[in-house]
Amino acid sequence: MLDWTDRHCRYFLRQITHHTLLYTEMVTTGALLHRDPARFLRYHPMEHPLALQLGGSEPHELARCAALADEWGYDEINLNVGCPSDRVQSGRFGACLMAEPGLVAEGVAAMREATDRPVTLKHRIGIDERDSYAELTRFVETVAAAGCSTFIVHARKAWLQGLSPKENREVPPLDYPRVYRLKRDFPNLEIVINGGIGTLQQALSHLGQVDGAMIGRAAYQNPWMLADADRLIFGDDRSLPEPASVVMQMRDYVAAELSQGTPLHRITRHMLGLFQGIPGARAWRRHLSEHANRPGADWQTVLDALARVTQ
Ligand SMILES: Cc1cc2nc3c(=O)[nH]c(=O)nc-3n(C[C@H](O)[C@H](O)[C@H](O)COP(=O)(O)O)c2cc1C
Repeated sequence: MLDWTDRHCRYFLRQITHHTLLYTEMVTTGALLHRDPARFLRYHPMEHPLALQLGGSEPHELARCAALADEWGYDEINLNVGCPSDRVQSGRFGACLMAEPGLVAEGVAAMREATDRPVTLKHRIGIDERDSYAELTRFVETVAAAGCSTFIVHARKAWLQGLSPKENREVPPLDYPRVYRLKRDFPNLEIVINGGIGTLQQALSHLGQVDGAMIGRAAYQNPWMLADADRLIFGDDRSLPEPASVVMQMRDYVAAELSQGTPLHRITRHMLGLFQGIPGARAWRRHLSEHANRPGADWQTVLDALARVTQ
């Protein structure tokens, strides 16, 4: 999620769940091809399984980026056809591409030529007035014919004019039955549902109808909600970690990052919600918010915050 998640966030979430597939934020083809690719592509091996999400529309550029993702060892390459921001529209990518299924199909075909790793798509159920079920199926059919077999569907349409990206995640109503219907009509495709999923129980109930569930905001704001994912969703009976032990598991990572000049708060900002619902959560959050961005902030700052939760 742009501006929210990054590699530090993913490393942290990986301490909570081993099996959940994690995605990068959208990285544009321009950023990868004309700027410093390592800045956008580097990650810790522990982050696997990990998908790189691309934003772009030029097939040859998408292909070059897919080849880069392949070299860097990403497990999946996902194309964003769901982001409605003005900046993205002016670059002719994101959700506006739902109006150009042929171009998306060309992009997918070019990416598949460049890598053997799965190429997947994230999109909406429609845009603007083009929101009929027939248009959605035409879109999916066209892109599937180019070799994409996994579709992550944000179960609400996007209005390309008049709504901010934030409003486009809240105002158009969620339509889960439409995504379920897509799965029924395309049983051979892997259909993953997204939008408004707040708990693992809700995710599980979607799994009765579709193949996967993607969780965005809830997992960021309350990362501990993922703690039971390995057991409930993936059938891994390893014992559940404690939130405090997850903090302690971050010690070596934090030390290594600090030694490379990463400021502490870049890592701890993703950890603020860890103790949500647990006594001391507010003191944890407050201590980190106030101290982690100070010069000299280090692992001791995290331990001091932790002491406030367990007091
Ligand atoms: C701050 C923010 C940034 C986002 N950035 C991306 C992005 O880079 N790529 C993407 O596919 N979706 C992005 N999204 C959308 C989410 O992935 C997701 O589709 C949407 O929030 C609905 O799911 P949720 O209710 O589980 O959050 C972003 C959402 C937020 C709140």
